[in-house]
Amino acid sequence: MKVLVIGNGAREHALAWKIARSPHVDGIYAIPGNAGTAGIAHNIAISSSDLPAIVEKAQELHIGLVVVGPEAPLAAGITDRFNQSGIPVFGPSGSAARLESSKAFARELMVAHGIPCAAGREFTDYEQAKSYLKKQRAPIVVKADGLAAGKGVTVAETIDEALFALDSMMKARVFGAAGDRVIIEECLTGREVSLLAFSDGKTVIPMVPACDYKRVFDGDAGPNTGGMGSYSPPGFFDKGMVKHVTATIIKPVVDAMAAQGSPYKGVLYTGLILTGQGPKVLEFNARFGDPETQAILPRLKTDLIDIMLATVNGTLDKIKIEWSGDACAGVVLASGGYPGEYQTGQVISVSDNLEQDVNIFYAGAKKRPDGRIVTDGGRVLTVAATGKTLKAARDKAYRNIKYVNFKGMHYRTDIAEREVN
Ligand code: AMP
Ligand code: GLY
Repeated sequence: MKVLVIGNGAREHALAWKIARSPHVDGIYAIPGNAGTAGIAHNIAISSSDLPAIVEKAQELHIGLVVVGPEAPLAAGITDRFNQSGIPVFGPSGSAARLESSKAFARELMVAHGIPCAAGREFTDYEQAKSYLKKQRAPIVVKADGLAAGKGVTVAETIDEALFALDSMMKARVFGAAGDRVIIEECLTGREVSLLAFSDGKTVIPMVPACDYKRVFDGDAGPNTGGMGSYSPPGFFDKGMVKHVTATIIKPVVDAMAAQGSPYKGVLYTGLILTGQGPKVLEFNARFGDPETQAILPRLKTDLIDIMLATVNGTLDKIKIEWSGDACAGVVLASGGYPGEYQTGQVISVSDNLEQDVNIFYAGAKKRPDGRIVTDGGRVLTVAATGKTLKAARDKAYRNIKYVNFKGMHYRTDIAEREVN
């Protein structure tokens, strides 16, 4: 079977890497892909937002399975288009992807089904939102309803800061239509964990949990990023917790979506915060997480294509998913200046001395015509290492960073640190 992967991050490189190990697969294509997928797939220069061109290309190539990485094409209905053209596709319909593309939709569904989340209210009227905010106490959280590339949430330390966020969303419209509706909610505290699960619309199978690091600097300082690192498993979230969250949060959400006529098929990512009153939902994503995927897939023992086909065909109940007991830690190497302004086009060198069980998953990196790989984005690559223990995995990831180099690179030095010390 030929598989088409949509997207160009380290997540998609990791997906293509895992898919390449499946005996079912005899060809992989990536739209648009990056320097990493270029090594294992044929990159095709089509934008991941040009849905008609993607569907046409997939038909021409006789693709047997499409795997969608990012949220934007899912929200735009890429799955619905592929379903119409009869090409199997892994990822939820546009209507099911509302769990990510509308925070108001997700919140209403959670409230209706008693799923624990932050207390809050939604607003479409700026003046009403403003006068409500003025009566609240900080810290408080302001969220744009729609997709905002991970930047739509402000955890405000003061009411002034919250009012500023509200202004930029509803008045300056920095996120466009995504900020025409906002959610104002209580600020929760606790450790955060990401629990991703496969869902075929009825059956839910959780993956191993993972943690990510959103702030750019050590100790969670500095601005938010697309994610600076990840590890799996977190010691503070054991198998019993996974079972509990699957039974009390993920399965009820999947059942509610089916009851609404929008069965959820694909990966459902639940972002959780472990509060004094138990785990609560921070967000849902309609896809694999980035950088969580880079720390989760190296632990997966079962053939990913078997799982994806069962997800698409509604036969997940027939599948047993196995995970390695090893741990995995992934550290993101970013361009100098990221998440602010940064330069691209810096040559990336990777030495042959890289140890075994260390993966370089490329993101903002492209292959020049002369064959050299150069930086092409803010987050350039993830160095992901597996080891018998989390400490071994973490040490190996950091030990191997010295074999990777590009001008201006920076990274966090505390990925998984709190867990192992
Ligand atoms: P989201 O994109 O919804 O995951 O939000 C990004 C980050 O904002 C989360 O990972 C949390 O760290 C933080 N966050 C979101 N909602 C809340 C909340 N209600 N209370 C505290 N922190 C939050
Ligand atoms: N790691 C957060 C996300 O994928 O949205």
